[in-house]
Amino acid sequence: MTVDRARARAAAAGFDLSCDDEVGALMAALAAGVPRGGRILELGTGVGVGLAWIVAGLEGRSDVEVHSVEVDPRTAAVAATEDWPSSVTVHVADAVEALPRLGSFDLIFADAQGGKTERLDLTISALAPGGHLLVDDMAPKPGNALHESLWPQIEHVRERLLTDPRLRSAELAFASGVILATKRR
Ligand SMILES: C[S@@+](CC[C@H](N)C(=O)[O-])C[C@H]1O[C@@H](n2cnc3c(N)ncnc32)[C@H](O)[C@@H]1O
Repeated sequence: MTVDRARARAAAAGFDLSCDDEVGALMAALAAGVPRGGRILELGTGVGVGLAWIVAGLEGRSDVEVHSVEVDPRTAAVAATEDWPSSVTVHVADAVEALPRLGSFDLIFADAQGGKTERLDLTISALAPGGHLLVDDMAPKPGNALHESLWPQIEHVRERLLTDPRLRSAELAFASGVILATKRR
């Protein structure tokens, strides 16, 4: 299974930033509901665990374009060792630079600083009417120095997602803390 291979890649590479299985399963469930001819975007590919969940949710559908953006070429190279379906494109780019040229999406997993703590507005703008935006790591992680240093920015993201008039958002208190937002039509 693609998810198992991605987890093995993450372990071998010592990459510990992949999404939780609960969040991955939620992404898979949302991917399964993307309309015919739809488009999915992941910001922050990592070594491809979240991407593997998206592919799993699509269950072989080839009508859905999947784009994933990773700024670190070495990390993207590890993700690229997977034999992804031809409908999947991994972009080696900064999400903030890539977002304005990638078009609009029915489902976005914002899992990188770019497009989340930096220029969240670009991500919201890239969401098609009725589209879903999933953001994780929204709950405090005591003892995680990186997460603690980013906490003021994360709280700002939370506030934006819950109050942006273009979105209808729900906070889900599970896994790493999730916000699921739908772009109003
Ligand atoms: C939390 S990890 C992503 C995990 C992945 N979504 C998964 O579920 O397996 C965040 C990733 O975002 C990348 N990243 C950080 N800033 C970025 C940016 N501005 N644009 C694109 N990728 C970025 C990091 O290099 C890192 O690989």
